[in-house]
Amino acid sequence: MQTARELEVLRKAVDALRGDGATIALVPTMGALHEGHLTLMREARRTADHVVASIFVNPRQFGEGEDFDAYPRQLARDSELLEKEGVALLWAPQPQEVYPQGYATNISVAGVSEGLCGGDRPGHFDGVATVVCKLFNQVRPDIAFFGEKDWQQLAVIRRMARDLDLTQPHVDAIRGVPIVREKDGLAMSSRNAYLSREQREQAGALPRAMRDAIAVLSEGGEAERPLGNLREVLQVSGFDSVDYAELRDADSLEPLEKDNGNARLFVAARIGGTRLIDNMAVE
Ligand code: PAF
Repeated sequence: MQTARELEVLRKAVDALRGDGATIALVPTMGALHEGHLTLMREARRTADHVVASIFVNPRQFGEGEDFDAYPRQLARDSELLEKEGVALLWAPQPQEVYPQGYATNISVAGVSEGLCGGDRPGHFDGVATVVCKLFNQVRPDIAFFGEKDWQQLAVIRRMARDLDLTQPHVDAIRGVPIVREKDGLAMSSRNAYLSREQREQAGALPRAMRDAIAVLSEGGEAERPLGNLREVLQVSGFDSVDYAELRDADSLEPLEKDNGNARLFVAARIGGTRLIDNMAVE
């Protein structure tokens, strides 16, 4: 696996991989790779001739007081994992390759970025849209893979690709991959590493409470009561606060009062200093 740290090196390496028309998949990440990321790599390998993975802890998507400095950085370990997955090229840019001196452009996607994580983390999705647009332009993949744990992020990226007429990748080639879960149901996340052993045990209450709420929501009643119960269950299970627990349309992300046949439950909750998010379809 080749590693590129400068744009010029990346461009040459991508051109070489592309050769006479081989297809290229991009899997953007912020590193601290876990099984969820590796599933994205495997999907990408199945779909394209070559996989390019990126690792960049993007300062623009962290708000003030968030965990940008603490975010785990483990490039050597991540490189080994990517190599084992048959990734052809790792794009691990230096910050100045992404945001050079004088950088002044921001991409802001309205609508789907409002509320949920966009409400709690002002500017977060501008940072995501901006860096993903840059990564797309730097690598110019045929197809790109993102985890569905960040469902709203995926909606924002698709909206941006559609609105800006991106072709590499085209909006239809932006693929979501289902959440990979631990044995107790907790969605895999690089931030799970922040949890103490006790907090990690308590965190299992999140997917359990969500499944219980979904069992009720799927019967078609009003969301208010099951969502209220979910909040209570999380608080008695050791969570410090619930940022949101909402039912929304899976595609438009419009808030819903009950299942419309395409509903998804979205939750963000905090345990200690760690913010966990999850989402599940109402089926
Ligand atoms: O999901 C992530 O890890 C990040 O938000 C992404 C898409 C790599 C952009 O920095």
